[in-house]
Amino acid sequence: MTEGIRRGLTNYGDRDFALYLRRSFARSMGYSTAALERPLVGIADSRSAFNNCHRHLPELVEAVKRGVTAAGGLALEFPTISLGEVFLEPTSMVYRNLMSMDVEEMVRAQPMDSVVLVGGCDKTVPAQLMGAASAGVPAIQVPAGPMMTGRWHGERLGACTDCRRFWGKYRAGQLSTKEIDGIETRLATTAGTCAVMGTASTMACLAEALGMTVPGAAAVPAVHADRLRVAEASGVAAVELARTRRAPERVMTRAAFDNAVRVLLAIGGSTNAVVHLTAIAGRCGVDLTLERLNRLSDETPVLVDLKPSGQHYMEDFFAAGGMPAVLRELRPMLDLDCLTVTGETLGARIDTADRYVDRAVIRSATEPFQSVGGLVALFGSLAPRGAILKRSAADARLFEGEGRAVVFESLDDLSARVDDPALDVTPTDYLVLKNAGPLGGPGMPEAGYLPIPQKLSRAGVTDMVRISDARMSGTAYGTIVLHVTPEAAAGGPLAAVQHGDRIRLSVKDRRLDLLVEEGEIQRRLARIPRASSVPARGYRRLYAEHVLQADAGCDFDFLRAAAR
Ligand code: FES
Repeated sequence: MTEGIRRGLTNYGDRDFALYLRRSFARSMGYSTAALERPLVGIADSRSAFNNCHRHLPELVEAVKRGVTAAGGLALEFPTISLGEVFLEPTSMVYRNLMSMDVEEMVRAQPMDSVVLVGGCDKTVPAQLMGAASAGVPAIQVPAGPMMTGRWHGERLGACTDCRRFWGKYRAGQLSTKEIDGIETRLATTAGTCAVMGTASTMACLAEALGMTVPGAAAVPAVHADRLRVAEASGVAAVELARTRRAPERVMTRAAFDNAVRVLLAIGGSTNAVVHLTAIAGRCGVDLTLERLNRLSDETPVLVDLKPSGQHYMEDFFAAGGMPAVLRELRPMLDLDCLTVTGETLGARIDTADRYVDRAVIRSATEPFQSVGGLVALFGSLAPRGAILKRSAADARLFEGEGRAVVFESLDDLSARVDDPALDVTPTDYLVLKNAGPLGGPGMPEAGYLPIPQKLSRAGVTDMVRISDARMSGTAYGTIVLHVTPEAAAGGPLAAVQHGDRIRLSVKDRRLDLLVEEGEIQRRLARIPRASSVPARGYRRLYAEHVLQADAGCDFDFLRAAAR
């Protein structure tokens, strides 16, 4: 029995009056008595004219409503914050927790028996899952789906790995201004999220791996008719969820997060997803550690050949079998008893899925694309609480070695000096960026993909070791060490690095060390004035006072759940 319209009544000190008043006002929207007695399914709609990736959400929401109505529920959509990745300053990550709080509070405050979360751009799926987990209301995710690729002069392109590739060529003087302007009109040509295995696609795959979507939901292109069928099926499932009252914490268990980490590694997923998955797990009382990531990474091969690690695009992944094919390949490594939002176990889903697979895109576990997982955590005197390297998208020739640090103190310092012809830098140096972490950025801007200094890129250098406390876009590639924790602005050893210091990187040993004596590191840190940059008011003040470091998912300290 669902509570529907009776759920969470407004407090007037008279419950019968509160229900009478609510019904009266609901009548003004034209609902019949019978409609108001149905299970109420909320639809968290993150459409926004500032979010190109969500351009098709009106159509998706209509399809969800169709499914809810067909299954005997009453669908009520409501707006939430939307985070359009490239339309936000200083960076969308600052606002992920705000969106999660919006979702949590509106899902809890409004009378809904279950909720369908519709979103896709990088931070929206994490924010929706974090919010739904905290609200404790049965929830199902509908990812927006990826864009289709475009063509420029016969060449296939997709946001945003190709955005970076062509921009790098333009910086190196290999493309004219007219050509880069022409490419600009062909990189993102349809609705949907970035066309490669970037953060948005990764999070959609992880939502499916966690059991929070209907089967096969992650990879269907945004403009494909199957995407509408996914939305309709999710509406149907949401009504059943309302009846069974299966809360997110029954689906997003510790074992489900292990499954999601396996998938993250096997798809060569985004580094950002480590932060987001840690944050979602934290809302469920599950502590997801980087040590655990390393253990699973050693045992989990990369199966998919997708950009930015490989060659193909998300529409190819969909046509090749998508997530059902990946899950089937990973079957021996997964906890098959995990419950999904549709009520069946993950094992049952795998066993009933279509068995087609295109091995050019999704390899077998016996002949993988890469034999070990796409991501690895590094620890050492430069990153006591960890850092991340996406080895599947990096140059393995740079994995073991030592380099001279060329240091940029901030993003402003980077943009002021990186292309200075007088910059003291060689191809074997390690570029270091400080003060771009959760506090210093703020919001860990996706600046970890430091540009190769122009004088080197023009000489043909395409990759260097780059180290920072920033994040990088899930569509980026290179030998890039990210999320150095603690960050420089929080007094981490990264703050002590000086131009000319030696740094040792060993992916084999999972090490990142500043080759400076510990006493000297501490003396340097003691001399650095701790800038107090807490904003005077508003959300940005809340952010500065409560954001946690990357190893806790950059969630706010007061939003994480007690461990279970
Ligand atoms: Fe929205 Fe890439 S900009 S997913």
